[in-house]
Amino acid sequence: MTSKPILRVLGGEAVWPPPIWLMRQAGRYLPEYRAIKDSSGGFIARCTTPDLATEITIQPIRRFGMDAAILFSDILILPWALGQDVAFKDGVGPVLTPIRSEADLAVLSLARAEDLASPVMETVRSVRAALPEACTLIGFAGAPFTVACYMIEGGGSRDFVETRSMAYGNPELFGRLLDVLVQSTIAYLSAQIEAGAETVMLFDTWAGMLSPRQFRRHVIEPAKTIVKALNARYPGIPVIGFPRLAGMYAGLYAEQTGVDGVALDTGTDPARAATTLPESVAAQGNLDPIALLTGGQAMRGETLSILEALAGRPHIFNLGHGILPQTNPDHVAELVEFVRSR
Ligand code: CP3
Repeated sequence: MTSKPILRVLGGEAVWPPPIWLMRQAGRYLPEYRAIKDSSGGFIARCTTPDLATEITIQPIRRFGMDAAILFSDILILPWALGQDVAFKDGVGPVLTPIRSEADLAVLSLARAEDLASPVMETVRSVRAALPEACTLIGFAGAPFTVACYMIEGGGSRDFVETRSMAYGNPELFGRLLDVLVQSTIAYLSAQIEAGAETVMLFDTWAGMLSPRQFRRHVIEPAKTIVKALNARYPGIPVIGFPRLAGMYAGLYAEQTGVDGVALDTGTDPARAATTLPESVAAQGNLDPIALLTGGQAMRGETLSILEALAGRPHIFNLGHGILPQTNPDHVAELVEFVRSR
């Protein structure tokens, strides 16, 4: 039996007050991150240099005493390790050489990915060794659909037209890319678990853009395959899914994929999620990052209503999406203290 609050909640227990961590809790809103950022190479170098990535992962734990640390990395480290050209440009975001044909797809190599991702596993090992007793280490990957969005589009996009039209117009090529991502994600998350990740999270940021039929095929099916493979290899290691902008499918997603927790995005009503999620499945979320940015009474009021909606069921307090870089770190400290004082 574990005494770590996050793992108890993912095991189906209602813990009060709920444990807390925040998406993007390491990053630009922290002066200690900006200090490292200015003196280190690029973003990929920070993700693949174990000393730096370990330090950055632990910064929010040191400052706020969160109940979980999330590995400092990015969902696009996997396509980078598979051999796609990936760069992170300041003020622009990720830029990738798009994959649009069989020939582009042939560039990707699972064998190489294992080598290139090995520094990430070293980071997982060193973070795990450095964490306080009660703090849970979360590994993660992007879900295949969201990673495919960036791989096909070549970067961020308002509506990912290239990606979604490939899914309809060239389902064979799209399906082959998703298969590569399902297999490599299983391998990548397995390696993180072997190195010491105690739970893993699948980020499907763009899941809510799909039609219901495409959602089943490209969000639920891949997540189900990944969860099944991980459960078979690592029974007892819980999986959290984040089908963002698809909160109306939270119950269906949980039932069909077999995840142990569902992260709710900002727009999802937690009271409704509490009635649609299976009783033992943890809800994670879902404070509006803008309420955190604003702070004060707005933040406390939103927080209270989420706590009330999910009281009595397994709940991990979090945001509905990542912390914004302009956020005052004092608001984060205040939020943690407010949730813990309930
Ligand atoms: O949560 C954490 O603290 C762990 C680290 C983490 C990062 N990205 C660090 C990062 C995690 C879990 C991610 C996930 C991620 N990355 C997602 C899914 C969750 C979400 O936010 O929707 C997505 C879609 C990405 C892709 C990505 N990475 C984009 C679009 C960008 C540019 C926008 C931005 O915020 O700058 C990134 C860059 C990135 N990933 C940064 C960080 C700290 C900023 C770059 C820097 O600090 O130099």
